Amino acid sequence: MEQKRYGHFDDLHREYVITDPQTPWPWINYLGNEDFFSLISNTAGGYSFYKDAKFRRITRYRYNNVPMDNGGRYFYLKDGDTVWNPGWKPCKTPLDFYECRHGMSYTRITGRKNGVEASVLFFVPLKKWAEVQKLTLTNQSDEVKQLKLFSFEEWCLWNAATDMENFQRNFSTGEVEIEDSTIYHKTEYRERRNHYAFYHVNTPIQGFDTDRETFIGLYNEFADPQVVMEGKPRNSHAHGWSPIASHYIEITLKPGETKDLVFLLGYVENEQDQKFAAPQVINKEKAHALIAELDTTEKVDKAFAELCDYWDKLLNIYQVKTANDKLDRMVNIWNQYQCMVTFNFSRSASFFESGIGRGMGFRDSNQDLVGFVHQIPSRARQRIIDIASTQFPDGGCYHQYQPLTKRGNNDIGGGFNDDPCWLIFGTIAYIKESGDFSILDEMVPFDNQPGSEVTLFEHLKISMDHVIKNLGPHMLPLIGRADWNDCLNLNCFSWDPNESFQTTENVSEGTKAESLMIAGLFVVTGKDYVALCQKLGKTAEAERMQQAVDAMIEAVKKHGWDGEWYLRAYDFYGRKIGSNECEEGKIFIESQGWCTMAEIGADDGMVAKSLDSCKKYLECEHGMVLNNPAFTKYIYEYGEISSYPEGYKENAGIFCHNNPWVIIGECIAGRGNDAWSHYAKILPSYVEEKYQTLHKVEPYVNCQMVAGKDAFRPGEGKNSWLTGTAAWMWYTVSEFILGIKPDYDGIRIDPCLPETASDYTVSRKFREADYDITIHPNGSQKGVKQIVLDGQAIDGTVIPYSKGHHVVEVTM
Ligand code: BGC
Ligand code: NOJ
Repeated sequence: MEQKRYGHFDDLHREYVITDPQTPWPWINYLGNEDFFSLISNTAGGYSFYKDAKFRRITRYRYNNVPMDNGGRYFYLKDGDTVWNPGWKPCKTPLDFYECRHGMSYTRITGRKNGVEASVLFFVPLKKWAEVQKLTLTNQSDEVKQLKLFSFEEWCLWNAATDMENFQRNFSTGEVEIEDSTIYHKTEYRERRNHYAFYHVNTPIQGFDTDRETFIGLYNEFADPQVVMEGKPRNSHAHGWSPIASHYIEITLKPGETKDLVFLLGYVENEQDQKFAAPQVINKEKAHALIAELDTTEKVDKAFAELCDYWDKLLNIYQVKTANDKLDRMVNIWNQYQCMVTFNFSRSASFFESGIGRGMGFRDSNQDLVGFVHQIPSRARQRIIDIASTQFPDGGCYHQYQPLTKRGNNDIGGGFNDDPCWLIFGTIAYIKESGDFSILDEMVPFDNQPGSEVTLFEHLKISMDHVIKNLGPHMLPLIGRADWNDCLNLNCFSWDPNESFQTTENVSEGTKAESLMIAGLFVVTGKDYVALCQKLGKTAEAERMQQAVDAMIEAVKKHGWDGEWYLRAYDFYGRKIGSNECEEGKIFIESQGWCTMAEIGADDGMVAKSLDSCKKYLECEHGMVLNNPAFTKYIYEYGEISSYPEGYKENAGIFCHNNPWVIIGECIAGRGNDAWSHYAKILPSYVEEKYQTLHKVEPYVNCQMVAGKDAFRPGEGKNSWLTGTAAWMWYTVSEFILGIKPDYDGIRIDPCLPETASDYTVSRKFREADYDITIHPNGSQKGVKQIVLDGQAIDGTVIPYSKGHHVVEVTM
C-alpha cells in the first residue's frame, strides 16, 4: 500500500519537518533539559511542568480528548473576519502554508494566511525555569495589516491528579494577579505552596483575560473562543473556576514589515518568609528578574544560540559517518536525542504516559542511563545515587520513585526480582564511560533513611546476593511479582477486574515461579561484576560470585533449555512456560536475548539454535514479536500478559525494547547480517520511509510497541518516546554494531556488521581524549585483525586511554 507522507528529515538542521498538520497522531517534541519541561505537539498542543509532571503541573492538559490533542499554547490571529492559528489548531482554518520543525529541544511552527506569516519558536533556555515563545509576524502582502492577537494558556491547579478529579474544591481555589503585561497564577499560594507561575509578553497589551469561561464562553470551544470571535478582550479577573492567561495585542504591519514578540511562561519559587510583597500580593522580584533576562529578541536569540551550541557539543561526543544516511541520522541525531528524553522522564510524561502514574522506574532508569551516560556522566552519577537510595537492606528495592521527592513509591512497593541487577548494569556503564571508580565509595542510604548509609559497592553486592538468595527449585531465580516483563504475573492469580496485576500477589508463599530472563541477566551482569571486583583487587568476592555465575549457567543448561530455544520461566506450580510443550506462548524473546548475550551453552550450539528460532518463530516484517503463538485466552496462572488481545503489548506485540537483546546476542555470536536485518526493521528512519500512515506515531523516534504479526493491524505503533528501546538501540548500535565500546582502561573496538558494510569513521570523545576512528570491514562480519593507533600497531582490541587527540585505523 502506498503510504502518505507527512514530513521528512532535515539532517543539516537536525530537524524533522512536518508539512501537514493532520498527522495520523500528534507528533510531539520535548522542550527543556533539566528542571522546566514542556511537551509540544506539531499543532502546539501539550503542557509544561517543573521537575515533576504530577506535583508541579503548570498548564493543564486533557489526555485522550475528543478531538485528540486539544489544549496547549495557542495564538489566535484575527485578520478582518478570519481567525487562524499558526499551528492550524484549534481553529483549523485552512492555511496557505504550514510547517512544524521539531529540533533538538526546540520546535518552530510556521503558518501563513492571507499574506501574513506567523512563526513561533518554542524552547526552554538552559538553566531557566521558563518556556520562551518567540512569535515573529511578517506582512508578506502589499497592504497594511491590522491584526488582533490573542495568546492563550490554561493553568493547571498544580497537582495534575487532583486537578482532574476534586472539582468540589478546585472550582473555588483559583487565583490570579495581573501586573502590566504579566498574568500571574497563584492558586494555593496563600497557604502551603511557595511557587507561582506567570505568562508574560514583552510589549504593552491592550487587554487581557484570565477567566476561562469569560474568554471561551460556556458553549464555545477552543476553536471559537467568544472573546476572539468578537475581537474584544473582556479584562476578566478569575476568582475560582478555571484561571487562564490571555494577552490581547493590536498590531499594525506595513507591507514587508516584521515584528517579534517574546512570550514567556515562567515558574518561580520563594522562601517561606519572602512569599508576599504585601498582604495578598505575591512577591514578584524573581519573576521580574527572569523576565528581564529574556525580554528582547536579542536576549532570546542569544539564549537560543546557547541551546543549539549545547546540543552541538553533546551530539559531537559520538558521530559516525557511514555510506548510509538513514543509519547516520539515527545514530548522530535522533537516537541520542531520544536517550536524553528518556533519561529525563523515565516513563512519566508523554502522550501515552499521563505524568501522574509511574514516576521513575528502578529498572527503567538504570537502563535509560546507559543510553545517556556518554552525554553528561555527572548527571548519570547523581541518578545512580538517587536510584540506589531507594533500595532496601536485603537488596530488593522500590519499583518506582517520584522525581520531585526522590522517595520510593509505596503504592507499587517492590518485589520485582530483576530490579536489583539493573543497578549493576547502570553503575558499570557509568564507570566504564567516566573512569570514575570513586562512585563506589559514595555512602548511599537504604529507603532514603538517614543513618542507614553503606557504600554504593555494598549496594551492588547485595543486589547480586538478592538473586542468589531467591532461587527456586531448579536453582533458577524466583521471579517475584514479575521480572522485566511486568505482565508475566506468575504469583498473582486474579479473577477480580478491580485488582491491579502489578500489585496483586495472592499466593507468593511457596511459589516455584522462576525466570530464565533473570537467569540470563544475572549471568551477564554477574560476569561484569566479577570483572569489576578483579579490577578492584577484591579477589575473594570475585571468586565467590564467579561460582554463583557458573552455577547459574549450569542451572540454565540443565533446566532452562527446551531443545530449540531457552525456556521462559517456570510457573507457580513448576510447569514450563515458553516451551514446545505449551499450547500457546511456546517461545518468548526475553530469555533468548539474555541467555544468548550471556553465551550460555554457546559451545553446545544453544546460542545459535536460539537465535535461529527467533528468526523462525518471532521475526516478522516489522520486527520480532515478544512471544509466539500469541495467547488467545486469559490464563489465570499467567496474569496480564494474556489479558491483551493477540499481537498487542506484551502478548506478541513487537515490544521494541527487547529486540536489541537478541540483536546483541547476534553480535556477540558474530552474525552481523542477521543483527543488521533485525536492527533495520525497528530503526525509525527505515520505518519513516515506508510506513508513515500505518505506523501512526512519530517517525523520528522509537515507540515502545509495534503491533505484531497476530494483530489486526500489524506495524501500527503505540507508546512513542518513553521507552527503554531508546537506550537499547543506542547501546546496540554504538557498542555492538559499530563496535566502539567504553571499557575501564580504554575503548574496545569490536564491530559486528553486515558483510555489505563499507568503510566508516567514528569520532568519539571519551573522558579527556578524542578519537578519530576509521574502520575497514573488508567484507567481514566480525573480528578485528589489526588496530593502528597514531601510526603504531597495537596488541589486542582495546585502545589504551590517554588524553588528547588520537587517530585510529582498524582493519577487520
Ligand atoms: C504494561 C507494561 C507496564 C506495566 C507497568 C502494563 O499494563 O503492559 O508495559 O510495564 O503496565 O506499568
Ligand atoms: C514497560 C515498563 O516500563 C518496563 O519496566 C517493563 O519492563 C516493560 N513495560 C515490559 O513489561
